[in-house]
Order: sequence, then C-alpha cells, then structure tokens
Amino acid sequence: MIPRQVIDEILARTDIGQLISKYVTLQRAGSNMKGLCPFHSEKTPSFTVFPSENSFYCFGCGVGGDAITFIRRAENLDYVDAVEYLAKSAGITIPEQPDRDGLLPKYDRKRLFEMNRTAAKYFHKCLYADNQYAKVAYEYLHIKRGLTDATIKHFGLGFAPNGYGEFIQYMTGAGYTLDELVIGNLCGRDQKTGRVFTSFYNRVMFPIIDVSGNVIAFGGRVMDNSTPKYKNSSDTPIYNKRRNIYALNFAKDACAEEMILCEGYMDVIAVHAAGFTNAVATLGTAITPEHARLMKRYTKCVVISYDMDEAGRNAADKAMKMLEEVGLEVRLIKMEGAKDPDEFIRKFGADRFKAILSGSSTKFDYNMERVLSKYSLSVPQDKINAANELCKLISEVYSAAERDVYIHAAAKKLDMAPSVLRQDVERMTYRKQKDEKKKDVQTVRQSSLGFTDKVNPDYVRMPAVARCEEAVLGLLMLYPQYVELVRDGKVDLTQNDFMTAFNARVFASVLEANGDPIDQENFTTDEIGRMTKMKIGRMELADNSERVFRDCVDNLKEAAAKKRQEAAPLTPQDLLSLIDAKRQEQGQEE
Ligand code: CTP
Ligand code: MN
Repeated sequence: MIPRQVIDEILARTDIGQLISKYVTLQRAGSNMKGLCPFHSEKTPSFTVFPSENSFYCFGCGVGGDAITFIRRAENLDYVDAVEYLAKSAGITIPEQPDRDGLLPKYDRKRLFEMNRTAAKYFHKCLYADNQYAKVAYEYLHIKRGLTDATIKHFGLGFAPNGYGEFIQYMTGAGYTLDELVIGNLCGRDQKTGRVFTSFYNRVMFPIIDVSGNVIAFGGRVMDNSTPKYKNSSDTPIYNKRRNIYALNFAKDACAEEMILCEGYMDVIAVHAAGFTNAVATLGTAITPEHARLMKRYTKCVVISYDMDEAGRNAADKAMKMLEEVGLEVRLIKMEGAKDPDEFIRKFGADRFKAILSGSSTKFDYNMERVLSKYSLSVPQDKINAANELCKLISEVYSAAERDVYIHAAAKKLDMAPSVLRQDVERMTYRKQKDEKKKDVQTVRQSSLGFTDKVNPDYVRMPAVARCEEAVLGLLMLYPQYVELVRDGKVDLTQNDFMTAFNARVFASVLEANGDPIDQENFTTDEIGRMTKMKIGRMELADNSERVFRDCVDNLKEAAAKKRQEAAPLTPQDLLSLIDAKRQEQGQEE
C-alpha cells in the first residue's frame, strides 16, 4: 500500500499532457488535447487528454484513466511499478511503509475538528494576551491592515505565539496527543529525531472553516517582509486544499446570484468588511475543477477579482476557463490604482468598489480588450488579424443572439461592417458544429460497445439498469459532497441497489475512498477506463446539481425494481392468472 498522499503528490507533479506527449503527438482542442490513440488503430483522433481533470480518455476504444493508468498501459507495468516509474521521473522517493499491522496512528474526524476549534480559540485568545508579541500582532491586524475587533472576531483571527512549547503544552493539556497534532498538521515531526514542533509560530492566524462550520485548517501570515509570507496547513484527513474555499461558510447564503472570487485571505476579509459578504478565495493554490464545481452549487455567476499584476491576469485566464467549464457565468473586475481588492478598498472605499463591481466586464469584453491591445488598428494587416481573432472568439459562443451582440460590438471597435464579420463568424461556427456532430456519432458507437462487455458482463442483460448505475457512479466520482450525502444517510443508497456486479464493486470503492480518488490498485486498466468514461460522460452534461443526483438515484432504484420483477420466478399465483388469461384468449378465438 502506497499512501494516498504520496500518490497525490506524484500525480500533482506529473504533467499528464507532457507525459503523454512522449508517446502521442497531441494537438490542442479547446482546453483539452487530442491525438491518435496509441492503444487502438485509428485515422481520426479520438484520444483526448483532459488536463483539468488530470485524465485521458479514448472515445474510440474506451481506454482511459490518470497518468498511472497511462503508464501501466504504455509501459506494460503493474500498478505499483507504474507508480514507482512516475515517482522516479517526478523526483519523489516513496517512503518505506510500515508492515500492514504496523502502527499507523488512528484518527477520528470529529476529534480532529474539535482539536482545530480548540487551537483556533487558543490563537484568538493569544491575540489579546498581555505581552509585547501579542501587541505587535494585534497592531498589525488592527492598525496596519485596518481590521476592527468585530471583523477579527467574525473571522476568528488569532496569533500563534513565538514560544517553543506553549502551544503544544496547551493542546496536550487539553487532551490531544502528539500524534493527533501531527495528523492535523498543527505540528510537524522531525523525521530523524522524532521531535514534535509547532507548524505555526509568530504568525497571525486565519482559521479555515468548512461550510458546516468546522475548523478544518489554518493559514498563517508573517507580520513583516520575511518569507514565506503565508504558511498553510497541508492536506490532512479533514482538509483538502483542492476542495475547500475560504469564507464559503459566510458567503454561501449571500451568493446565489453572484460570488466574488479573490486571490487571498486579506482580500476576502476586506471585501466582507466593506459589506460584500459574497466574497471567497481559494487557498494557497490555483483554482481547481473541484473548486469550480463546488462554486457551481452555490452561485450562478463568479466575479473574478484577482490581483492586477501579470500573475493575477494569468490566474484569471485559468479560472475563467475552469469556471465556464462547469457552466458558471464569469465576469471580471478591473481595478485601477490598486493591486488587489484589499488595497483598492482601503484607498478608495466601499462605494468605489461597488461601482467597479457593477461595471465588471463579461468574458467577451475582457477577451476583446486583450485582443485589441495586441494590435494597432491603423495598420491593415493588424486590423485583419484582430478581426480574425475576434471572429474566432465569437464563433465559440453557443447562442446565436449572443454572437449577434458581439459581432456588433466588435464591428464598432474595428470600424467594419457587421455583415462582413458575420459571414466569417457563421462560417467558423458551421465548421465547429460539424466537428461536434462527428464526435457525437463516435460517442454513440462507443456506447454500443456494450454488446460484448468484458468489464461489466452484466451490462448486456440489463443495459437500462447499468446505465442508471453509471450515471450515479459518475456523479459520485466527480462530486465528493454526494458521497457525503450517501455516507451520512441523507440519500438512501447501498451496494445492494447495484445489480451489476462490476458497478457494485465500483460503488464500494467510491464509498471507501470517502471523497478521495478511489484506490486503483484493485482495478485493471480496462476497468479504470470504464470508470473514466462514467466521469467524462457526466462532466459533459450541464446540470449536475444535487437534484439531478437524487433523480439519478431514484431512476436507478426504479430501473432495478423493474428488472428484479422481470427476473423473478413466477409465483403459483402468477402462473394461475397467466393460464386464466391464456384460456380466455383461446375462448375468444373459438
Ligand atoms: N499565498 C500562499 N503562500 C504564499 C503567498 C501567498 O499561500 N507564500 C496565498 C495566500 O492564500 C494568499 C494568496 O496566496 O492569501 C494571495 O497572495 P498575495 O497576493 O501575495 O497576498 P495578499 O493576499 O495580497 O496578502 P497580503 O495583502 O497579506 O500581503
Ligand atoms: Mn494584499
């Protein structure tokens, strides 16, 4: 057993596109990449890499999975060897594992939540302690960053003191073991000496709270210019930075229409303090597809309010793509005279922030400006290039009405006739739609592969049931929160509800993984391909809300009940009524 964290680390450090490029010539296709499948022979590419999902899938032959699965196939290795292969090229050493009955410390989620809450309260108290260090920390937040006591309290901000043993002493005094402190990442343990040390000292502390109100992790900031500026809890059994969003606990009830996405803790706090309680941030990491899907559950529209520097703009580009992929409307804020929302509000006040918020631009305006800024329109060739790029942008918009609006906007900027641009746009749109149709045909062909199904032999006997099962499993693999619903009994679904043996097995693994990627060691690459298909299939649908998930579960139960009835042997009662019916029929004929 290689620990999940090590595997996550290996996958995070492996660029799946780069890895696969060593075997396949890949071409960009939107946010994905396409090439000729190395695992079956084909003339048009149906082998697709999804960098945002860290996976690949061939719509032609159904092979798919993550980087590990790819290497298993491409290098013909078993699971463990493939992991080691990738670890080596990522420069990671897999730690020696204690034998199976080795003493892996036990943990209990509830206790870890309580432990973090205790720590948060302790840090908060330390901020108001009567000593010179605490004073420096309090002044940093209060004077330098302009936070009121009410704001400090609302966000539970605190101070991790300088002293070596204080925090550990306090926490062990409160009944938590050193192991628990290390598991929760409040402390670290020196590999060589075994000594336990606190993770945070002499930093102002930002507790990270999940939507249920549990304290799940911390961020800590230095109060001067030393580095690293921020230190964040690494992932623990109760915290995954790819899946948690700062301040969503406060924003969740205020963001149905619109959510403001910032880069950092201080931005979120400043924006809330200015009266906009719908602001959130991702934490110590760029936005992930998991974040985007989580946001989709709470809002319709995300207003990106990242820093105004080059890094911020690049991050905004990535975020925009990811948010749109899950079907969110995206807008972008432009700040002049300040580098981030925190600074903007301090300099210009809440009203000005409100003004730029309502003047935020759509993705199209934003992209149009970027294109136009590259060219000088008085040069004919530049103007042609700009027109081409804008037409291409517009052709990617699905709605014809929207395309029309943009054509007019672009025509005005370019000082050209809308009808001219329209011709180009429609030609590009037509070509794009034709390509998509071709892809649909491929997908249908793929699903008919169910006839000789080696992965799920039961599929052929009950395709309706199996399809319902796959819909449910796809959603569970994409959305950890649905796993939680099942685990907590809020959605009634057990392994017995799955009639096909393979899908029942997948369900068990999904539950066992409890929201993490499933343990792949016990699955063949063919099986992983099928699971990838379930995920990809759902990913491409617009609505994956909880209501849809519940509908899918209902459909599954209905289909299964119907199938069970069909398959059940006849009772004597059934037999009698059948004979009756037959007799009547014959009687009528005579
Ligand atoms: N960040 C981090 N580690 C760092 C620097 C930044 O995790 N060493 C994350 C933090 O979540 C931070 C966010 O990136 O809130 C934005 O970073 P940055 O723009 O540098 O900081 P600001 O939010 O402007 O922070 P401050 O105003 O406190 O300087
Ligand atoms: Mn800042």
